[in-house]
Amino acid sequence: MSEQLQAKFQEAGQGHVFRFFDELTPEGQASLISQAEAIDLDELTGLIDTLVLGGGENISGFGDMKPAPFIPLPENGGDPEQWAQAGAIGEEVIRAGRVAAFTPAGGQGTRLGYDGPKGTFEVTPVAKNTLFQVFAEKILAASKRYEVEIPWYIMTSTGNHDATVSFFEENNYFGLKPGNVKHFAQGTMPAVDFEGKILMSDKGQIALSPDGHGGSMRALVRNGAVADMKARGIDCVAFFQVDNPLVRCIHPEFIGFHVQADSELSNKACVKSYAAEKVGVFVERNGKTEILEYSDLPDSLAEATDADGNLLYRAGSIAIHVFSLDLIERIGTNADPNAKLPFHRANKKIPTIDESGNPVEPGEPNGVKFEMFGFDALPFAKNPVVIETARAEEFSPVKNAEGVDSPESSKKDQLRQFARWAKAAGIEIETDETGLPAIEFEVSPLFATSAAQLAERVKAEGGVTIEQGTVLT
Ligand code: UTP
Repeated sequence: MSEQLQAKFQEAGQGHVFRFFDELTPEGQASLISQAEAIDLDELTGLIDTLVLGGGENISGFGDMKPAPFIPLPENGGDPEQWAQAGAIGEEVIRAGRVAAFTPAGGQGTRLGYDGPKGTFEVTPVAKNTLFQVFAEKILAASKRYEVEIPWYIMTSTGNHDATVSFFEENNYFGLKPGNVKHFAQGTMPAVDFEGKILMSDKGQIALSPDGHGGSMRALVRNGAVADMKARGIDCVAFFQVDNPLVRCIHPEFIGFHVQADSELSNKACVKSYAAEKVGVFVERNGKTEILEYSDLPDSLAEATDADGNLLYRAGSIAIHVFSLDLIERIGTNADPNAKLPFHRANKKIPTIDESGNPVEPGEPNGVKFEMFGFDALPFAKNPVVIETARAEEFSPVKNAEGVDSPESSKKDQLRQFARWAKAAGIEIETDETGLPAIEFEVSPLFATSAAQLAERVKAEGGVTIEQGTVLT
């Protein structure tokens, strides 16, 4: 058994994986065998040939490219009636129990440098609630409002699965029913060096890393989440990442536009703040809607403007989607050979061992990780939809330890949102020219998840008092 496997690896030029096999304990040997068995060697060899030894990814065909159309917000020229109609349809769909939430939370969060699953990071300004709690409360609020169960599927990685599950258990699932929260680990891919040799992180351990947020589709199928959704009558999957506390997790208008268009994948876009902003943009290329990464958009196109002087390619992707269950299943089961998510390469510093088995901590990237991206599903989707959303209301992620998209910038954006909502509800709040309030306070999603809901609550309670440190809950 092991001989056959070793021979296969030898043949693929990866025999070194078993270099220290004889030194391992029987358990160590069994573990290495099962790691090796889980690797699709044909797939890996193909990726090494194209992405590592070959020329890599090559994007071309800008000639027939144009910006993808999007539905603008009412305040930016969209039709208020169309939005109201979408909202009414979305509410019906939610009430009918057709919606689930999904969060890929298997990332390694290296930029933030926080030790623990990113969802356990304390993000709100006053109560210091974690990202997971913010999303849980938004889902709970929608469940109550629409009197319906909204299950939440959370994809972890093998590295953070146990810590994530324990965190939910310790916090009583933040009030959600445990049976409505499903955690499962995503797949892994071996990392290779620049010659295409599989890297070992120890004598009996292959250097494995999560297969990217695009691994969601496979993982949702493999772990039974798709079957569970089907049994529950769910066909809309609200997809949001683990790092953006402003996201409207269950957003009626968005779901309404998705269902109305019979779309398989709907997307939210924020207008880019400036030409060089590092977000992917929605484009139409070869007749398909897709997201083009900022690094692939030539400067001349990034800077191009339309007749009104707006950036031509201004619809920036913020990784908030509604997927149809059909699309997830089609991609996740590999049922359609023409709907296969590609892998991308990322050069990384990967701790490894040398030929004698001594640990090596590289100071520079020494190898390649392979990842799939969720948004690569877009060209395979029927009737894709892109709607505009206001950045201030919906997007302020925690990506970096400092500066742009950091805990500090996100905290300020949350405070600005609370202040805007409070002012709109008729409460006096002193703010500076950026809208930042002079005091720190917080609106829990259990109190309100929008300006309109806050105004309703304030009216129902005959007014509320907000001071430094207030948490409306
Ligand atoms: P990011 O692209 O921000 O990556 O993930 P990251 O790994 O969290 O952070 P860095 O780049 O190391 O700093 C966007 C979303 O996709 C999830 C993340 O958890 C986050 O919700 N993700 C990413 C996965 O679920 N699996 C992956 O393999 C990668």
